[in-house]
Amino acid sequence: MRVLGIETSCDETSAAVLEGSGGGNDVTLRSLVILSQDVHRIFGGVVPEIASRAHVTAIVPVVERALADSGAERVDAVAVTNAPGLVGALLVGVSFAKAFAFGRDVPVIGVHHMEGHLFATALEHRDAVPPFTALLVSGGHTMLLDVEAWGRYRLLGRTRDDAAGEAFDKVAKLLGLPYPGGPHVERLAATSDAGRFRFARPMLRRDQVPSDSEFYDVSFSGIKTAVLNAVRTAQDDAERGAIARAFQDALIETLVEKTARAVDQHGRRRVVLGGGVACNATLVAAMRQRFARANVAVFAPTPRLATDNAAMIARAGLFHLERGERSDLDLNAFATQPIPGLVAA
Ligand code: KG4
Ligand code: ZN
Repeated sequence: MRVLGIETSCDETSAAVLEGSGGGNDVTLRSLVILSQDVHRIFGGVVPEIASRAHVTAIVPVVERALADSGAERVDAVAVTNAPGLVGALLVGVSFAKAFAFGRDVPVIGVHHMEGHLFATALEHRDAVPPFTALLVSGGHTMLLDVEAWGRYRLLGRTRDDAAGEAFDKVAKLLGLPYPGGPHVERLAATSDAGRFRFARPMLRRDQVPSDSEFYDVSFSGIKTAVLNAVRTAQDDAERGAIARAFQDALIETLVEKTARAVDQHGRRRVVLGGGVACNATLVAAMRQRFARANVAVFAPTPRLATDNAAMIARAGLFHLERGERSDLDLNAFATQPIPGLVAA
């Protein structure tokens, strides 16, 4: 089955063609086109109305390019992100996908964006398949999941306030760095040794037990305030580097420890990272170091598949299509929606 994937949930217009041969992880990515909207940089964040308009301009040429690159004239189905995300941005992809499906007389399937992120790493690593512990960290979401099988997810923890990427972006702003801030904060942090500042690890205490609601959840708004106070008294660039380092250390240690709890509690041997913050090499290295002795493998996608892309949407769509699922032409876009396939935690 050859699937056209479409992703327009935020500020990337993306299309991909993926081919799968009957279940398993036997898939071939034929093409992937990602157009990132640069315009939001000047506003220091994504402006929803501008994002929608840019998707309208880009969607046809992006899909045409993905189809041409794939070398295949025909696709058997269309998979499109229909939740969660910016509703106006999502609607562009959903409307296009439905029209395409109707015009070509092929089925369409709506895909949950976060389920897409769960599948992204498997496109590059044959062994990044269930069962595994998943940490999805992006600009909009922070989720810790136990993935027993594709389509069977236990939501263990989430952020109580800012997403991990959002925390990076806000701290970048406080430090006078451009948007999106994650890579800039990581680079600045690398200029400093640990120890000049130390911020409390949010919601991380040794006496927490699995029945505590804070055992897996995270919260990053407190570190942001700590950063703000430190920035106010910072004298020079070296001190700004030390603040970036202390922020990143606190955030990474929190994410690593919460992930380790999930691995231990569910006895998993694999950790799969996803979302834009998984581009952070310091985070990935800290995860690998933490799990090296326990013989737990850590898989992270390359930046192209860590950030928003249509390949992961085509992959998640293929999974559902192969199970015989289809969406109707009244498929709609939703700003929020629980990830499908949730089982009790
Ligand atoms: O998954 P993504 O492309 O879009 C969303 O669905 O949100 O994630 C974007 C987020 C931004 O907040 C960006 O600052 C962050 O990922 N990010 C990073 C790094 N590269 C991107 N955060 C930390 N370190 C990085 N190297
Ligand atoms: Zn995303």
